[in-house]
Amino acid sequence: MELKGKVAVITGGASGIGEAVARRFAAAGARVALFDANVTGGERVAASLGSAATFHQVDVTDEAGVLAAVSAAKDRHGAIHICLNFAGIGSATRTVGKSGPHPLDVFKKVININLIGTFNVLRLCAEVMARQEPVTADGQRGVIVNTASIAAYEGQIGQAAYSASKGGVVGMTLPVARDLAQLGIRCNTIVPGLIHTPLFDTLEPHVFSALESSVLNPRRLGRADEIAHTAQWIVENDYVNAECIRVDGGIRMQPR
Ligand code: NAI
Repeated sequence: MELKGKVAVITGGASGIGEAVARRFAAAGARVALFDANVTGGERVAASLGSAATFHQVDVTDEAGVLAAVSAAKDRHGAIHICLNFAGIGSATRTVGKSGPHPLDVFKKVININLIGTFNVLRLCAEVMARQEPVTADGQRGVIVNTASIAAYEGQIGQAAYSASKGGVVGMTLPVARDLAQLGIRCNTIVPGLIHTPLFDTLEPHVFSALESSVLNPRRLGRADEIAHTAQWIVENDYVNAECIRVDGGIRMQPR
């Protein structure tokens, strides 16, 4: 599916990887609707992209809020062809730590945003796509791109909640692609390694360089635009479907 002239909903578009995807897609001629809880960041990114972009203040876990934002994005841009899910949070809590067992509310919050939030947005975008006419010669109506993490496969100490949430995103990729196949909608998941977003700027230099050294090749953190490039390729290549694609420089995470 060509990007030019298409409409993409991008969750997490106010920061980091989602912002890089918004910039790359807008540069390729797509219109972008940024869904994020962060108003300052979302308005900043949308304003810098001009009339091709809109910002929608959304909590991805909120059913009514996402429904309203999907409807507003469709009304404003005329359609939704692409749904990219980058909204997410991390967590670092041991199953049993110094202050006791992992708080259950923390576990639930991470699952709610990373897994249920992703499904909430993709199901409502897919419903809009299903009602539109196909936009390719072989009947494609839409593309969904989710974000997991290599923690889905190699979760580190303290990552039980985060790994479970991202493992859920990996696990639903095939059945969602199967559910939506007859509607001409593909679903894939990007599985990033260590990507240099503002979070990493708070690390001590020696911690940062130790992380770089843990990557197989190239020996550095990934760039947000390298994930955006993968998202673009997934959208443009109609034969990529039901797949989870690691983009991680070959890293295999150790327990800590
Ligand atoms: P980020 O923190 O820069 O961006 C995440 C965005 O999601 C923020 O703008 C935040 O406001 C938004 N968000 C969080 N909860 C939300 C909610 N309930 N509703 C709406 N928006 C919400 O993070 P980054 O690094 O760009 O990560 C993007 C995605 O990539 C996340 O899902 C993350 O788990 C995943 N990832 C990131 C990696 C990295 O090394 N940066 C590695 C592997 C996966």
